[in-house]
Amino acid sequence: MNHFAYRAHQLFAEQVPLSAIAREVGTPTYVYSSATLKRHFRVLDQAFAQVPHLLCYSVKACPNLAVLHLFSREGAGFDIVSGGELERVLRADPDGAGKTVFSGVGKSEEELAAALNAGILMFNVESAEELLLLDRVGRSLGRKAPFAIRVNPDVDPHTHRHIATGIHTAKFGVAFAEAASLYRKGRRMRGLRPLGLDCHIGSQLVDAAPVRAAIGRVADLYGRLQGQGLGLRFLDVGGGLGITYREERPPSVEEYASAVFEPLRGLDTTLILEPGRVLVGNAGLLLTRVLYRKRIGQKQFVVVDAGMNDLIRPALYEAHHELLPVRRRRGAAVTADVVGPVCESSDVLARERRLTLPRQGELLAVMSAGAYGMSMASNYNSRRRPAEVMVEDRRFRVVRRRERRSDLWRGESP
Ligand code: LLP
Repeated sequence: MNHFAYRAHQLFAEQVPLSAIAREVGTPTYVYSSATLKRHFRVLDQAFAQVPHLLCYSVKACPNLAVLHLFSREGAGFDIVSGGELERVLRADPDGAGKTVFSGVGKSEEELAAALNAGILMFNVESAEELLLLDRVGRSLGRKAPFAIRVNPDVDPHTHRHIATGIHTAKFGVAFAEAASLYRKGRRMRGLRPLGLDCHIGSQLVDAAPVRAAIGRVADLYGRLQGQGLGLRFLDVGGGLGITYREERPPSVEEYASAVFEPLRGLDTTLILEPGRVLVGNAGLLLTRVLYRKRIGQKQFVVVDAGMNDLIRPALYEAHHELLPVRRRRGAAVTADVVGPVCESSDVLARERRLTLPRQGELLAVMSAGAYGMSMASNYNSRRRPAEVMVEDRRFRVVRRRERRSDLWRGESP
């Protein structure tokens, strides 16, 4: 469910025609719908209402300050993976640290210290050596760092191989068998305080079975650790719930919630969730303009002004994003490759797509681009990263201006 819809053949974001945004802000531009973001947050929050829980929005999905601020007003916490994301959270919500969990396999000493100083809720520790370093950081700051061990539950999440994290060949977490001994060590260290247990099995999950299986394993371990008097309070089940890009049928939030609840069997804990894509994916689109059309042999190409530097998902994961004309009109359907301006043959936003051949200058909306769109954008080919716009009912505002040319060489010296 989102607030992008046609009215009299014009595509709108809430009450704003996308053509008005393109006219004022230019293209390519990411457009987010605040009503959709709020709705997604509330529906997910409601699905977990029957148990104590905290939704920690996974900042990496779309880290714009306006998005963080919106979720913070809804009562969200945050899931971060770097010191930079911590800075963003603090800018968007000066009290956000106490609701923030910090995951990632390669946290530096500096990042650990900054997060401990800021007073984050919990470190999701991913190796024995990280635990030792965190203890050292805790002792040198005279504090006990609250930690969870991120275990690798070793289940196949049935998703794209690049985003499967909870399988034993992935780099994430510690082996299940190693976790209990790390807690035993951790509880004796002066710079540490055991607080939770964490897992995350992957992203764009469209099947509830692996979620149930992973949480079953993790809930058992949590119960055993509790039996040893560790005093854990949080069970962090990660993020990963998928969305519909094309024909996927991911579990509804209610089905997802029951896949999480069932294996818990009344465990006394506060659940932490780290949703990213499900909150922002379908709440954002990438607005782009057609530059040229051409045929090479039998093949029709449509060249647009958004490239793989703006949205890398199709090139990196063979991801499918729907393409909608901003102004719908009659015309013969063709099969075309919709490509960007970047000098790489993988710069294809849509391959062999059936669409009404757009005219030069017409606008297209690349749908479901709210998650891992702008956050993975780069300056490749010395292209300025897009602007970002937040729509609120009849109004819209630029929440990140388009990069200026001088931003491209900021910090460089000839
Ligand atoms: N928690 C942890 C520890 C994660 O690694 C991730 C995502 C999340 C939460 C949020 O997952 P979500 O709810 O968004 O699925 N760039 C890829 C996705 C990478 C996901 C990385 N980790 C893509 O564009 O599909």
